[in-house]
Amino acid sequence: MEGVFNMKKRVAIYPSVMCSKPWELKDYIAEFEKAGVDGIHFDVMDGHFVANITLGTGDYEAIRSLTDLPFNLHFMAEQPEKIMSYFPMRENDMCSFHPEGTRQPYMLLQMLRNQNIKAGLAISPDTSVDYIENCLELLDFILVMAVAPGFGGQKMVPGHLSKLAKIKEIVEKADHKIEIIVDGNTIVEHSIKMLAAGADSLVVGTSSIMKQGPVKFVENYHHYLEEITK
Ligand code: DX5
Ligand code: ZN
Repeated sequence: MEGVFNMKKRVAIYPSVMCSKPWELKDYIAEFEKAGVDGIHFDVMDGHFVANITLGTGDYEAIRSLTDLPFNLHFMAEQPEKIMSYFPMRENDMCSFHPEGTRQPYMLLQMLRNQNIKAGLAISPDTSVDYIENCLELLDFILVMAVAPGFGGQKMVPGHLSKLAKIKEIVEKADHKIEIIVDGNTIVEHSIKMLAAGADSLVVGTSSIMKQGPVKFVENYHHYLEEITK
């Protein structure tokens, strides 16, 4: 029936605040709300699991104080379970972590769900999809990295689209909806292919609609959505 109404696919968008200059943050948050984004993608990097160190607990508290938008937290950290409590989350927030960083990914997903936080695994280009198969019943979403984690503005890795299709196949075996979010280099020409390969939602950062500063965000956001759902 979809073809008859030619309904546009509803694509959730999560802008990545690590791609904002510090002095732009307050304006960006206001523009995110104006645009109607689905949540704020908040990258936590510990300088061990990935070389980079980005936003910390102070930034988190400050940004949370500016908005009621839900957060989509992405932990790129060794033993993420040791630091998650320093980023107090609210119901309806989403939290993903890289399973290689902890000895107990299954238990950590259980802990998140017990706190009514939407639980997800972050899957890098070199991470086995077995983690998804083994934790399927506990997953609310999967954050599929189109780039190696650690930095904004990188290029999509060659094997991403086929991995995304493989993950879509696995997710369809679940008895509940699991949102597939792509994180990394989600420029229009890639996002069209990512959505066709099975992505439901996109993290947008430096490489897509956050490169011209907050003043252009709302205009770029609507143009971007138009282009990727044509
Ligand atoms: C990279 C982060 C991404 C990144 C996205 O490790 O997880 O969220 O900031 O930035 P772009 O969209 O520029 O790849
Ligand atoms: Zn991220």
